[in-house]
Amino acid sequence: MPATVLVKSQSPVSIPRIKRSADWLLRSQLLSHEELTVVLTDNAGIKEINERWFKRPWATNVISFPAQEPGIFGDIVISVERAREEAQEGLTTVQNRTIELLIHGFVHLLGYDHEIGPNEEKRMAKKEFELKRNLFRRSVMADLCINVDHVATIRQARGGVEPDPVVAAGMVELAGADGIVVHLREDRRHIQDRDVRLLRQIVQTRLTLEMAATEEMLGIAEDIKPDIVTLVPEKRQEITTEGGLDVLGLEKSITDAVKRLHDAGIPVSIFIDPERDQIEAARRTGAECIEIHTGRYADAESEEAQEKEFDTIVEMAGFAADIGLRVHAGHGLNYQNTGRLAAVSEIVEFSIGHSVISRSVFVGIERAVKDMLALVKG
Ligand code: PXP
Repeated sequence: MPATVLVKSQSPVSIPRIKRSADWLLRSQLLSHEELTVVLTDNAGIKEINERWFKRPWATNVISFPAQEPGIFGDIVISVERAREEAQEGLTTVQNRTIELLIHGFVHLLGYDHEIGPNEEKRMAKKEFELKRNLFRRSVMADLCINVDHVATIRQARGGVEPDPVVAAGMVELAGADGIVVHLREDRRHIQDRDVRLLRQIVQTRLTLEMAATEEMLGIAEDIKPDIVTLVPEKRQEITTEGGLDVLGLEKSITDAVKRLHDAGIPVSIFIDPERDQIEAARRTGAECIEIHTGRYADAESEEAQEKEFDTIVEMAGFAADIGLRVHAGHGLNYQNTGRLAAVSEIVEFSIGHSVISRSVFVGIERAVKDMLALVKG
């Protein structure tokens, strides 16, 4: 059921935008079947309601009324006059402040109540922050780049020619992805040199080459010229890339590698854990991007641990963007844990492989990429 917006007094806000926001909030919580009424009023109007129902004779900014009937989510009353006053204090627009109040009222209807105590206040603020981030998302969506290494893993299992990661890359592009990623490993366990050369010729979006900063790989990158190189750590024994690159410990050699790649006209991203000193070191190397290793978030075993990792990523993405780095993210992202991260506006690119290739076994690669695009683009 779409939300209804009732306007009780002259309002300087865009009613369609308030309605779209209310509809979006319902959808975001899988409540689109419920009725939500948003009443926009002025200070006199909200004061009357506040006094009548709560014996509080003053003009507050927003009041929520949970519904008593099934199928009805509730009513949210907002004073747009108060929103305008608060907007001036908080240096925002009356439109945005009204939407913030809508979110606050909506989160109350979800059962959160900051008046219960400090823990609940924190929990509620977090929920509001998340919804706000999502709703005020950047106008430019993050890019989704698909790593096709695991198509090559299947090919290498038999040592033959199929399935071909180069063909997969074409299909991934046709499905709408923004780029193709491959990791050329020292042991050539999946992607082969021939794949990278062919991909360079056929990829029409953007080709990212993940590689260790070794002499051999730097030479290949200089020769093939991918659109961007992501420097990753590499150990022969590991199943996949475990942990980010220790830029701090290897600053001199990474800086030299970045310089060599820049001299060949190739921009550089560095795959690192979300840690402040690693981010600062990455900045010093001259690389233009970092890719935040999302493994600790993806692998967290409890909700609490995942929350903690999520907060760290949000904070570190903000820090990296503030010091002028472009922020990518990847590793272990799947159809369950990507949506939340997609709301972090500083992350402008996601690099996802295993979950998409795994799903494509069952639903086909086009469907698998489109499902992930829907999560990333919102
Ligand atoms: N980003 C980097 C730097 C990686 O090494 C990998 C794994 O190859 C990924 C992203 C993709 O991780 P996943 O396959 O878990 O989606």
